Amino acid sequence: MATLHELVLPRPDDFHVHFREGTVLADVVRHTVLQFGRALVMPNLKDPVTTASKAIVYRQAIREVLPEGSDFTPLMTLYLTDTTTPEDIAEAKKAGVVAVKWYPAGATTLSDHGVSDWRQMDAVCEALAAEEMLLLIHGEVTDPQIDIFERETRFVRDILVALRQRHPNLRMVLEHITTKDSVDFIHEYGHQNLGATITAQHLLNNRNHMLVGGIKPHFYCLPILKTETDRCALLEAATSGDSRFFLGTDSAPHAQSAKENACGCAGCFTGYAALELYATAFESVGKLDKLANFAARFGADYYGLPYNKGEVVLKRESWALPETLPFGATLIRPYHTVSGQLNWKCFQA
Ligand code: NCD
Ligand code: ZN
Repeated sequence: MATLHELVLPRPDDFHVHFREGTVLADVVRHTVLQFGRALVMPNLKDPVTTASKAIVYRQAIREVLPEGSDFTPLMTLYLTDTTTPEDIAEAKKAGVVAVKWYPAGATTLSDHGVSDWRQMDAVCEALAAEEMLLLIHGEVTDPQIDIFERETRFVRDILVALRQRHPNLRMVLEHITTKDSVDFIHEYGHQNLGATITAQHLLNNRNHMLVGGIKPHFYCLPILKTETDRCALLEAATSGDSRFFLGTDSAPHAQSAKENACGCAGCFTGYAALELYATAFESVGKLDKLANFAARFGADYYGLPYNKGEVVLKRESWALPETLPFGATLIRPYHTVSGQLNWKCFQA
């Protein structure tokens, strides 16, 4: 088959991104804006986005750093806490918030204000279903007895199954799935109200990349990279054409010093080359033709949003990934492929 040199995609959406705040905001947002028409912005700020008014303030801050004339749309989320009420949900809906993020308390970066007991979430879940908003799930148990590599599977089998039964009409997204078990669960469950985002790093890497031959902190994110069997199952799901699997980078920048540290932070910064990374993964299994739907249609369909106007172009072009990128007064070391190279480059059409 002739080598493909150019791939034109409908302008895609990133359904899971961390933009951060303050002096680094502009340095983070500018990358996503170059590739995506919209992005679903995670609410785990230092002071989390727990109310409609905080979401409005945060959305305005994002809009203020957009390049002149940009039509990029930040889609806002609310951070669920033990004290979130159905009234908070109704107000969020009025403010244009599209989804609520459930972090089990302590599961990941900036999740301390998250939900301590999911059994107390019924009223909020009912309000979400009534408002036709989505529940986004960081699917890991937090019990210190449970091995970090088992936390997602235990969550899916012990908690998600029960929550699904309690709220069959609630549209949920299991965010950044990392295991074959999660893929199997979504297939088994066979429900149009359970979708999943998949990151580029989980399609490209397994835990050996992070741990063999020296510890590589820039591959460390949560949920943590799993086995090669898991990676292959994720790649199969992402490229299968099943519309319940769609793009969410979970691009999560941290200053270089916070990751290259005795206690390094979780999160990979992939937003600067998101589409190129996904294209690399899809091409590795000969499925580049499946990228357009995964990146630009399935997520929008799941959220009930119209498709973006316009296109982006991926050109076959080798480039060496940057060692660092500006991050306010500091630097980020972006996520790298194992080779430190990419063979695709994204351009605005
Ligand atoms: C995210 C972050 O840094 O905000 N980190 C990560 O490893 N994915 C939080 C999250 O999405 O879990
Ligand atoms: Zn995330």
